[in-house]
Amino acid sequence: MPKNVALSDDQQFRYEEVIRYVRELIKAGTLAPGSKAPSLRRLSKARGVSVSTALQAYRILESQGELEARPQSGFYVRDKKPDTALPSMMRSSSKERVVKPGKHVSSMFSHAIDSNLVPLACAIPSQQILLGSQLDKFLIRAARTEGARANTYAPPLGIEELRDVIARRSMLWGHACGSDDILITCGCTEALHLALRVTTQPGDTVAVESPNYFGFLPILREQGLKVVEIPTDSVDGLSLPVLEQLLSSGQVSVCLFSSAFNNPLGCLTSEAKKSAVLKLLNRHRATLIEDDIYGDIYFGAERPRPYSAMDEARDVIYCSSFSKTVAPGYRIGWVSSERHIERLLEARYGTSLCGPVLPQIALARFLNGGAYDNHLRRLRKQLQDNIRDVSKAVTDTFPKGTRISRPEGGFVLWVELPKAIRTRELFERAIAAGICFAPGDLFTTTENYRSCLRLSCGFECDSTLERAIWQLGALADQLLENAGAKK
Ligand SMILES: Cc1ncc(COP(=O)(O)O)c(C=O)c1O
Repeated sequence: MPKNVALSDDQQFRYEEVIRYVRELIKAGTLAPGSKAPSLRRLSKARGVSVSTALQAYRILESQGELEARPQSGFYVRDKKPDTALPSMMRSSSKERVVKPGKHVSSMFSHAIDSNLVPLACAIPSQQILLGSQLDKFLIRAARTEGARANTYAPPLGIEELRDVIARRSMLWGHACGSDDILITCGCTEALHLALRVTTQPGDTVAVESPNYFGFLPILREQGLKVVEIPTDSVDGLSLPVLEQLLSSGQVSVCLFSSAFNNPLGCLTSEAKKSAVLKLLNRHRATLIEDDIYGDIYFGAERPRPYSAMDEARDVIYCSSFSKTVAPGYRIGWVSSERHIERLLEARYGTSLCGPVLPQIALARFLNGGAYDNHLRRLRKQLQDNIRDVSKAVTDTFPKGTRISRPEGGFVLWVELPKAIRTRELFERAIAAGICFAPGDLFTTTENYRSCLRLSCGFECDSTLERAIWQLGALADQLLENAGAKK
């Protein structure tokens, strides 16, 4: 309890009584590890205490490691198992680097979609979880009803019905953008491409989180951009002092950050941190390009607000897509920015002119059909279960000293193996054994993360996946032995 708060005996009693009550619920398993504790309002009503007494009780339980507070979401029973340590935050130099042609990235993409390999690499949910077949029905219907009318160029910004539904949905998480500020793109990848095109010149340096999604690097390279990596913690997000230094030195005026659930760390940047980032960017007149592709896959009570929905947002370009939630194959994403929309549109004319019409109509009608939110609820639950099961399998079978991230959303796990293991070598052996994952060296231009790997949890952790994880653990053990290090 904070020292400066004096409580009367009665308050003291109530406060301790609430703590005892919550502890009983945890002990009896009524509140399971990882589950959400009752809201303050509910607890205060149930125990006949004020909301502030309930809050103080929760704060004490938090400080004793029994509950954890999640920003914008409430209090959760701390999941003490697995008690595997979190991945360490790697040191990154604030040196800008040229992105070299990445043969590893293209070979990764071809392995990741190879259905003969156990799918621990590709960051898309399994077809069983996505609603592909429902969406296909909308596509068939649209083909039948629209006929030749759809066999033409789409309007420059994209089909209005789709932009309208995206604008309405964005309002749900506080990002008020008009449908005329939205440009439909070929996935989030094209959205990011266009956003960089209109805010940078070849030779500029762009700041990204480290580790970062390996698909960012080919985009930067294609535009002749350099990259500088900001160390990012698997709980707390990116390092503010490093960002400040990069901005103050004038090294960087455009940043590309995830809005929620960095791929591969799965961490959720708190609102306080987002606000601090935006204040820094505003002070230095820098632009933020945010990638919110995992925003709908959150495990807390509420969808996290993207940077563009924060009060401090001045120059933020928002990018996302439906690749992780509905249909990666439809290749539908969007970029939105009131300030830059005309330049984005011009850049679009110079790349792909416009997107295919029928998939946009089908997706708009599917989203308007009312099944999407239920689908998202099921998807979140399934992906969270997958993460729990894969984490457990890794904890049980990987070498001692392995560290694992604890994602708050998305569906990838970041695993750090003992230093003697090179995951590139592990990858070659795993591919030969029919298993695919993403080695850590893909997620950086530095020498960091060579002992790390990313596992996708888009598929249910059935016996095939469990066996594959066990095999990966055994291969890692072998490498450790070869290196002469003890398990
Ligand atoms: C962070 C991030 N951004 C963008 C993409 C690519 O999205 P899309 O398939 O919509 O182009 C991915 C895919 O894995 C991703 O993880």
